[in-house]
Amino acid sequence: MNLLKPHDIWPPHDLYKQMANVSYAYLDQVQTLSIKDGSGVIAQFENMLTEYYGVKYAIGLNSGTSAVHSALFAVGIQDDDEVICQVSTFHASITPLMQTGGIPVLCDTDGSTGNIDIEDVKNKITDKTKAIIVTHMWGYPADMDEIMEIANQHNLFVIEDCSHAHGTVYKGRKTGTIGHIGVFSMQASKIVPAGEGGYLITSDRNLYERALLFGQFGERLNLQLTVPDLHAFWETGMGLKYRMHPLAAVCAIVAFKHFAHYLRLRRKRIHAFHEYIKDIPALNHLIEESPLDRYSYFMNRMQYEPEHISGIPIKSVVKDLRELGLDIRIASHRPLYHLPVFQGKRLVGNDNLSRWPIYTQAQFPKTVSYFESLLGLPRFDHPEGDRLVEYYGQTLRQYFLKR
Ligand SMILES: Cc1ncc(COP(=O)(O)O)c(C=O)c1O
Repeated sequence: MNLLKPHDIWPPHDLYKQMANVSYAYLDQVQTLSIKDGSGVIAQFENMLTEYYGVKYAIGLNSGTSAVHSALFAVGIQDDDEVICQVSTFHASITPLMQTGGIPVLCDTDGSTGNIDIEDVKNKITDKTKAIIVTHMWGYPADMDEIMEIANQHNLFVIEDCSHAHGTVYKGRKTGTIGHIGVFSMQASKIVPAGEGGYLITSDRNLYERALLFGQFGERLNLQLTVPDLHAFWETGMGLKYRMHPLAAVCAIVAFKHFAHYLRLRRKRIHAFHEYIKDIPALNHLIEESPLDRYSYFMNRMQYEPEHISGIPIKSVVKDLRELGLDIRIASHRPLYHLPVFQGKRLVGNDNLSRWPIYTQAQFPKTVSYFESLLGLPRFDHPEGDRLVEYYGQTLRQYFLKR
């Protein structure tokens, strides 16, 4: 098949065009390039969020990292507080603890989705545990019923990191609305891309005001903070400026308007791909099993099980498939224990880090074997995505079923 790689083109060019048009119009009308009071396109974007998620409050921010950082402050994390988080996630789900204080307690993940392992969560809870951060990995929802039950039993906050999971639905509920706070990245690879950007949602007024206080200052705080102890700081906030750039808000509005369409297209193609490969014993590819669930497929992953095809190593399979023109790779994502901050590396000038535990691979057996079997595939975000699905599906069938 004669299609140049990459086989994913994201964000799609038609979305770029629409962003270009609205950005041009915004600038051409000489609209403000810095919104201090949360009005205009910032308010417009935040209203879209509260309406879509059915929550009371939303804050547009300049990154997903800012959203995580604001959420950690909102729930009140300090020095000795322990925060449970899965070892499989992107570092920024938890590394803002370097700034807030608090100790990351990394958990193993289940062997099939990369989501947090519930039993390990239970094992890791202590008197110092204050919150659980749950990333809905690759867009697969974590088991929120179990997580909320544990959290309620132990009086813990739950922060859902939905950076992979805009539009994911768990048992009929949108992820981000089940825990106490939902945080989202809108970095360019995400399904709601603003280039750089993020947002935070909650229905808890106190958490909203604390998150707002953290990353804003001045007029917006003066207008929106109602808790006197927080309002007292309206001029400075907490000394940070995490507010959104108006042009990022303009792009985010466009992306948000179109994201249902792209989510539908992505799911349609991934489901069509699944039909080709679902009976191949060596491949394990997850799609929704219940009509009440919906995955956003931030990534299209599958697990390779070599025991079903005479033990051919994963590297050989990937090499063969790439020679056949498929853009399939061993997932490059490395669990958090690899990172220097989780291996005891310390930094002069950051005392918080000195309290962090040292982690080793042996503590996360399920995550290790999960990543060893994990393959990354395109999501078929390509104008010729339907043809790609057919080509990938047929090629994989020929390759695996003839062996
Ligand atoms: C799970 C997760 N959390 C947080 C972030 C941080 O978001 P940002 O890059 O917008 O700061 C990312 C970014 O990829 C992410 O994947």
